[in-house]
Amino acid sequence: MTPKQLDGSSKTAALLSSGLPESHASFSGRPFYFFARPRYTFLMTTHDFDRWCRSILEIDALSSIDDSLNGIQVDRGPGALRRVAFAVDACAETIRRAREAGAELLFVHHGLFWGKPARIAGALRERLKMLLDADMALYACHLPLDKHPELGNNAVLARLLGLEGLEPFGGYHGVKLGYKGRFREPVTLEEALLRILPDGSAPRTLIPRGPERLTTAAVMSGGAPFEVFEAIDAGVDLYVTGEGSHSIYHAVLESRTTFLAAGHYATETHGVRALAERLALETGLETRFIDAPTGL
Ligand SMILES: [Fe+2]
Repeated sequence: MTPKQLDGSSKTAALLSSGLPESHASFSGRPFYFFARPRYTFLMTTHDFDRWCRSILEIDALSSIDDSLNGIQVDRGPGALRRVAFAVDACAETIRRAREAGAELLFVHHGLFWGKPARIAGALRERLKMLLDADMALYACHLPLDKHPELGNNAVLARLLGLEGLEPFGGYHGVKLGYKGRFREPVTLEEALLRILPDGSAPRTLIPRGPERLTTAAVMSGGAPFEVFEAIDAGVDLYVTGEGSHSIYHAVLESRTTFLAAGHYATETHGVRALAERLALETGLETRFIDAPTGL
């Protein structure tokens, strides 16, 4: 959706001003596309924001296979959004930090509601109370943010690795959410590791069985250890996911595919970061990524 379409499709979206001070635009700790930001801000309600997300992400198309209640999980009162926080997980820490940053909406990859009715008690009650007390909305988007061909966790991971000739990979209820492709030039495992974990942190699980010079790789963010079997069957040199599992160990050991679990969190910050940048670029809304690593 372009700003022009947004302006035309929403009565509540409006051009605010053409000369906001730079401080208004620099709410984000990371200045997303600061140089390219529009000099205006669209006034969006949570429902405008929902329409904007649905124009980009396949929220309805994937609803039958996604346990996550994608979309608005907690609404807020009427009024325009100015600041939107992004995080991987909805938890007390991210809600608190979003509130402290003055955000009216928190967008997360892992929301609060999954699959079945939840009892509003304990930690869930506390998180909801924090949201309601702050009049802050919560928006969740799970599999559509893994799958998106440009902004998704897997597309960004494939780009970070430098893969070309991408093909869909990793079936989940018949839908392929990941990618496989070829390295532009064969790379060592050390090079591949640095592309996925540029801060040099150690992977969660590493079982090196592929060749010394890796020519192909497949990626599936988050908790997808068992898709390594598909990578082994496809003869892929390197399989990258977030989490490992004891159950795959011997199969990988007896294969020619290197298994790399780089961390569920570490492989799933990319989608929310990319969407935050897109939102800031298209609407001028202030965005902030709240980094709350789990180490898992
Ligand atoms: Fe995940």
